[in-house]
Amino acid sequence: MTKTFEKNEKRIEQDIIALSAIIDSVAPGYTRRPFTKWHLESREWLIREMKNCGLDVRIDAASNLIGKRQGVNPELPPIMIGSHTDSVVGGGRFDGIIGVLAGIEIVRQLNEKKIELAHSLLIVDFTAEEASEFGISTIGSRGMVGNLTEADLGRTNAEGLPLRNALKVAGGRPDDLETEALKVGDISLYLELHIEQGPVLEQTQHELGVVTGIVGIQRHKVVVEGQANHAGTTPMHMRFDALPAASELVLALEEVANKTYTEQVVGTVGRMFVEPNGANVIPGRVVFDFEIRSLDPHALDQMVEYMKNKIAHVETSRKVSITMNQLSHSDAIIVSEDVVQGVEKSCQRFGTTLRLPSGAGHDGNQLAKVAPVGMIFVPSKNGKSHCPEEWTDYAEVVKGIQALGTALLSFDKALSV
Ligand code: GLV
Ligand code: MN
Ligand code: MN
Repeated sequence: MTKTFEKNEKRIEQDIIALSAIIDSVAPGYTRRPFTKWHLESREWLIREMKNCGLDVRIDAASNLIGKRQGVNPELPPIMIGSHTDSVVGGGRFDGIIGVLAGIEIVRQLNEKKIELAHSLLIVDFTAEEASEFGISTIGSRGMVGNLTEADLGRTNAEGLPLRNALKVAGGRPDDLETEALKVGDISLYLELHIEQGPVLEQTQHELGVVTGIVGIQRHKVVVEGQANHAGTTPMHMRFDALPAASELVLALEEVANKTYTEQVVGTVGRMFVEPNGANVIPGRVVFDFEIRSLDPHALDQMVEYMKNKIAHVETSRKVSITMNQLSHSDAIIVSEDVVQGVEKSCQRFGTTLRLPSGAGHDGNQLAKVAPVGMIFVPSKNGKSHCPEEWTDYAEVVKGIQALGTALLSFDKALSV
């Protein structure tokens, strides 16, 4: 029996089409927000597929869906393959879901080829990987590694629902989070296949990417309080307009992100609320979130200092009051050279391969707290992601699955001795 993974393009195409059809039909693009009926329906679909290939399925305390394939050596901590099926609002068809489907496809092929692994294999659909209404990302993987605090569980969404209760909606058991939390040594290795979500592989004509590190992310909420007033009768020098004040801060973020650092940094304001939001009313209050990302934590700290100084300056010059509070942060990770080399060797068997860092956050940021992490990227057409145009040819997804499966086999062997 050959130990190579087949090009089952038709099967993965059918999977992607079926799963990406389970979406909120009134929201834009391909929207499957966590804790919604669409996310729960997609879970039903996954549970069926996991059971069809013989996985032992359960939902953990953090509401992650986990399918287990028993290994030959029960002494060895399992190897985990995972990703997520929640999406951003107006997202695409590939972000997250190909990583979960890759795990299922690898199990099918292992079964078909009657390959037993020394390690048990866990296939995971992590809950709420994307930025959520609760102000944090990677909720399920945080919970899995004991990184959801009481304060996090008390965070509420716009309807006032606490995260603790949302986890229960998805089958979680928040009271058991602490006892179930994974510790160092509980998992031998975490592997994930994901779309690159950027232009590098396509533009450099590589078919597969080996992730060398994943950026850390900080998110902050800024509230600018001015004074709402009549837009016609209030002279320019007598107003306390919250929006131009907020605009100065938006531009300051762009300015500080454009400076030169040892590692790339990016800064984005992607969400803003203007109150009262009337064409003839001076904005009295603006609330916006900004996020900054880099592999270098010092660069992020520098950017935060810059924003704090700018806020002090804008408060004085415009006579508005401004608060800035950190919403969340995830630590950057560097993938160990051993794992990079192992993954790279497997990738090189199936296509042209490039080492690159990830500018997107992933559940691997959390899993790295308890286990070595490795990731493979496949190209994103025109570098697009988090939008309905997101696309990766099925043949390219298949290469990623073959590379991931091959990496799994080689690590299963290497980590058994
Ligand atoms: C996840 O997709 C992120 O990087 O925001
Ligand atoms: Mn993703
Ligand atoms: Mn995403």
